[in-house]
Amino acid sequence: MEDLSLHVLDIVENSIVAGAKNIEVQVLEDIKKGLLSITIIDNGAGMDEDVLTKALDPFVTTKQDRRIGLGLPLFAEAAKMAGGNLLIESKKGKGTKIKASFQYNHIDRKPLGDMSETIITLIIGNPEINLRYTHKMNDEICFLDTKELKSQLGKIPINSLQGIQIARKVLGPRMGTNKHKKLMIND
Ligand SMILES: Nc1ncnc2c1ncn2[C@@H]1O[C@H](COP(=O)(O)OP(=O)(O)OP(=O)(O)O)[C@@H](O)[C@H]1O
Ligand SMILES: [Mg+2]
Repeated sequence: MEDLSLHVLDIVENSIVAGAKNIEVQVLEDIKKGLLSITIIDNGAGMDEDVLTKALDPFVTTKQDRRIGLGLPLFAEAAKMAGGNLLIESKKGKGTKIKASFQYNHIDRKPLGDMSETIITLIIGNPEINLRYTHKMNDEICFLDTKELKSQLGKIPINSLQGIQIARKVLGPRMGTNKHKKLMIND
């Protein structure tokens, strides 16, 4: 997988399979500190101790139709390759938090890719899920909360052409173009 945004798609897919209704995706690009972190938090079924301790093992999956699960091991490998790591916190019945960190300028750090398109893809495929997305890059911030957007859209479905056009507008241009809202001092 070339882009980290594609790993995010995979990891959020795990949350959806786990029955999550609320999913939060946070991307933090701190160029001064030379750090990139990607965090995915869900309120899905969570993992019991047994699955949790083995989740990074490529031969562990709870899917019935196969014997290997690769989403988490591949994301962990991408982080390790870039001098970072992957942390998993999970509680059965409560939910899961996956946090991957990367050295921003590491030669083997994969590009972030198009996070906005990843978010749009998730909205189109899973309109019923409440997805909160925050992307901070230095002093710029991009934020989308589909629950908020759905209430603003009223009867217009979020995965309709019009809904998606509005979601795209909220997501705005690519980060780093300085067209996003500047962070407030206390953010
Ligand atoms: N967010 C989550 N909530 C609950 N369980 C999870 C979550 N993420 C992963 N798991 C558990 O960890 C296992 C391994 O996940 P991983 O993404 O590596 O593989 P997979 O989803 O089984 O297969 P693949 O990603 O290759 O389609 C899953 O089968 C599931 O049991
Ligand atoms: Mg998976």
